[in-house]
Amino acid sequence: RRNGVEFAVADLEFAAFGRQEIRLAEHEMPGLMQLRREYAEARPLHGARIAGSLHMTVQTAVLIETLVSLGAQVRWVSCNIFSTQDEAASAVVVGPHGTPQEPRGVPVFAWKGETLPEYWWCTERLFSFTDGEGNVVGPNMILDDGGDATLLVHKGVEYETAGVVPTVADDDHTVSEEARVVLDTLRRSLAADPQRWTRVAKEIRGVSEETTTGVNRLYQLAEQGKLLFPAINVNDSVTKSKFDNKYGIRHSLIDGLNRATDVLIGGKVAVVCGFGDVGKGSAEALAGQGARVIVTEIDPICALQALLEGFQVAQLDEVIGKADIVITTTGNKDIVTVEHMAAMKHQVILGNVGHFDNEIDMAGLARHPGIHRITIKPQVDEWVFPDGHSIIVLSEGRLLNLGNATGHPSFVMSTSFSNQVIAQIELFTRHEEYNRDVYRLSKVLDEKVARIHVQALGGELTKLSKDQAEYIDVDVEGPYKPEHYRY
Ligand code: NAI
Repeated sequence: RRNGVEFAVADLEFAAFGRQEIRLAEHEMPGLMQLRREYAEARPLHGARIAGSLHMTVQTAVLIETLVSLGAQVRWVSCNIFSTQDEAASAVVVGPHGTPQEPRGVPVFAWKGETLPEYWWCTERLFSFTDGEGNVVGPNMILDDGGDATLLVHKGVEYETAGVVPTVADDDHTVSEEARVVLDTLRRSLAADPQRWTRVAKEIRGVSEETTTGVNRLYQLAEQGKLLFPAINVNDSVTKSKFDNKYGIRHSLIDGLNRATDVLIGGKVAVVCGFGDVGKGSAEALAGQGARVIVTEIDPICALQALLEGFQVAQLDEVIGKADIVITTTGNKDIVTVEHMAAMKHQVILGNVGHFDNEIDMAGLARHPGIHRITIKPQVDEWVFPDGHSIIVLSEGRLLNLGNATGHPSFVMSTSFSNQVIAQIELFTRHEEYNRDVYRLSKVLDEKVARIHVQALGGELTKLSKDQAEYIDVDVEGPYKPEHYRY
């Protein structure tokens, strides 16, 4: 704590550099800047205490400062141990008008290269706001990416209700190291305050969730009747998943591969596991570099799309021996097994851009008999098998576009984060109108976000005449498509 601002970041001296990057990013984030102007007077988030868990990058810094300018009190952590840009984290703590000696910004608990216990310590710090009288209070909103903040509250309430946190045997390999850390965190919390999470959950008006994997978790909770507060699925705004997931990864996957390895991608065989939004952007980017792309899919619709884009569709087992680059994008678990890795060619590059690190069996790799790890540089490891062949694993199987590079560029994050800000305003100001269920933003708002970004790029929209509007049965002002339209 310095000058009343709590924080845990790498070094506040990085703030000046971070501030310059934020200044340049603001120009590339027209949606967020438009929302700042639009709500400057009304400040609809006044009274909101937002607990944010989302990659602490330069783009996220612009999001945080937008929430603050709309009146919110904010605390922030990263949702991945490798994704923080330390200069951005520092600049947010220092704030636009502070100095490293006298910070005036937002409490951030994030640095690049956290351990898992540190990561969950940071996440727990999210839930300790201070009110006007100096009392510790919980947040009343969550802004989540992947659902870890939401998970901590839900697990906390579950174990508080049961009065006990389950124990797991040390040799039980079905429970991940991370799950054990979460259990330890909650065991300590239950011992210190048996009602903490129950109180926290009662205060929360809602959560807005950024990504496919987090949204899946929310729908599962809602289906089981276990969701404790309303949720807005930001991911499935068209101006989020059809832009960030696809065009964002088209940029940042290649950026991550290049910064990590600088291997020529052209001519190589690249296998992309999954051809959803992220897979589509990944395959396009690799093909754009001249790679020969092979796609694996379980869904015939996505497989057919891949074929018609000109990609081979095959099973991983059949093509694993040909691959030079293997990228997982499924949001599913156990995609690349240690048997696959053992069968790979020498110096294959293996990485994941799906949300969690369970797509590639890293735990199995580490346990493989006779395996030997050489760290080439941070987030780049060569794993040498006993037969002498090695593979290069990026970011320990976690999101490589954020671990090895700096994630998606500002403009595309402006479309995503505009939806986040609108979702926060919606849930904070109209929470009584929502049940404990998962909602999407209206198409009117989706089109609004798109319109701002079309204008920023100099696109000129064609105006619909009244006559034409009647003919296709839409309003002149939109929305222009029915709900079921797929884009
Ligand atoms: P999606 O649901 O559109 O695509 C996933 C695809 O994987 C689906 O088509 C599905 O059929 C396929 N799939 C599932 N199991 C499979 C298996 N065993 N083998 C082959 N294919 C399989 O999801 P989306 O939006 O593409 O997101 C994918 C992941 O990426 C999620 O975890 C999401 O949270 C994450 N994400 C990561 C970003 C990044 O910056 N790295 C950005 C946005 C999302």
